[in-house]
This record gives sequence, structure tokens and C-alpha cells, in this order.
Amino acid sequence: MNEQVANNKNAEGSIITTTLALSIGYAVLRYHIVGPVPWKDFPFFILNKGLCLAAFILLTMNFALGPLKNLGASVPQGWLGARKAMGMTGFLLVMLHALMSFLLFSPVVYGKFYEEDGTLTLLAGLSMLGGVTAFVVLWGYNMAFQTFLREDKAFIAFITSRKFMLFALLLGASHLFFMGYQDWLKPAGWHGGLPPVSLVAFAFFAVGYVINLFGRE
Ligand code: HEM
Repeated sequence: MNEQVANNKNAEGSIITTTLALSIGYAVLRYHIVGPVPWKDFPFFILNKGLCLAAFILLTMNFALGPLKNLGASVPQGWLGARKAMGMTGFLLVMLHALMSFLLFSPVVYGKFYEEDGTLTLLAGLSMLGGVTAFVVLWGYNMAFQTFLREDKAFIAFITSRKFMLFALLLGASHLFFMGYQDWLKPAGWHGGLPPVSLVAFAFFAVGYVINLFGRE
């Protein structure tokens, strides 16, 4: 193993572990320690929040580090080399998040997503539409690099283009925005004064979006 590969492995391992630890830690702090959620809900309901936050952060970094370098920032080589691992881990975490969310999806767990007659509210419908389309687009993006499609230069140029990336980021953001913006506007109700996970993720999206807007060629 040459020195560069060893450095990349160190960087990707510590970036992924730190992101997971901070994201899960934030969910535990906000919902269990300063919030009212009982600890019995940690293994699924709260862990799901931590995992999807980590996924969002890793994917945003994966998409934004290259454009950030184009803007003149000094991004360490190890971080640039870790992008593939961040993208793949982010995608697998999103898969986990989707599976966990499907199992949890009911009016008892997510009361605010449902009308009294048991149908989805408009905002929940828009949010879930954003989530499932972001998931499918992400799947296509990953497949493009793992299959024969990777030989198709025009397709790869399209899928890594500024236009496509900005569109894909907006899908993820719409998932967060429609689900959360009503709570974002009421800081008095935030547990321990800490912003909801959806707002933390949205802040990462906003920074990543601006970096891609100006730094992607
Ligand atoms: C099949 C696709 C998806 C489904 C069914 C889904 C479902 C859900 C549900 C039900 C929630 C509410 C969780 C909660 O409040 O406990 C949620 C939140 C969230 N999702 Fe997704 N999602 C999907 C795709 C995605 C994708 C592609 C991302 C991007 C990484 C993502 C990131 C997030 C984030 C960061 C939250 C905020 C969690 C919170 O505020 O508690 N989701 N999703």
C-alpha cells in the first residue's frame, strides 16, 4: 500500500466515524437528554434521526469538497481522496434511513404527517415526494459509477454537471423543508434551545448549495 492510499484510508475512516458520532450524539442530546423522548426509543426512532443526519452531512461533503477547492480553499488531499467512501457510506446510510422510516411510518409515531382522517397532509406528501425522488436520484448517481455507464463520458459529464447537482441537492432540501419549516420558525419550542435535526441538515445543504453554485464547473 503506498503512502497516499494509507493517508486516504486514515482520513475516510476518521471523517465517517466522527460524522456518525457527532450526528448520533446530537440526536441523543436533543431528544433524550434535554428532550422528552424515552430511552427505549433510542435503537430505532432516534438512531434513525442520527443516521439520516450523518448521511446528509457525508453526501453534502462528497458533493461540495471538489467545488470548494475550485473556489481556492485549501482542502486537504486526504479529504479529497475520501470523497468516494463518503458518497458510498452516505448512500448506504440513506438506504438504512429509508428502511427504518418505512417501518416507523404510522400516525402514532409521526402524528404531524397525518390528517385526522388518516391521510397524509400536503406538507408530508411534498416532503416524502422529495425524499423518495432524492433517494432514486442518488441511487442512479451511484449506479453510474459502478456499472458500464461509467464508460459513457457524456452521461458522466451530465450527472456530475452543476445543473444536475443543484437539482439533486434541491430534492433533498425539499424533503427537509416541507417536513420541518413550521418547527424551525418556533425556536421557543426547541428542546433545550437546540434546533431540530432537519434544520441542522438544512444548514449543511445551504452551505453545500452555495459552494456548488459558485464552485462547480
Ligand atoms: C425512500 C426515501 C425516504 C423516506 C421514506 C424518508 C423518510 C423520512 C421520514 C419519515 C423522516 C422523519 C423522521 C423523523 O422525524 O424521525 C425523515 C427525515 C429525514 N430524512 Fe428522510 N426519507 C427518505 C429519503 C431521504 C434522503 C435521500 C435523505 C438525504 C440524505 C434523507 C434525510 C433525512 C433527514 C436529514 C431527516 C431529518 C430527520 C429529523 O428531522 O428528525 N431522507 N425522512
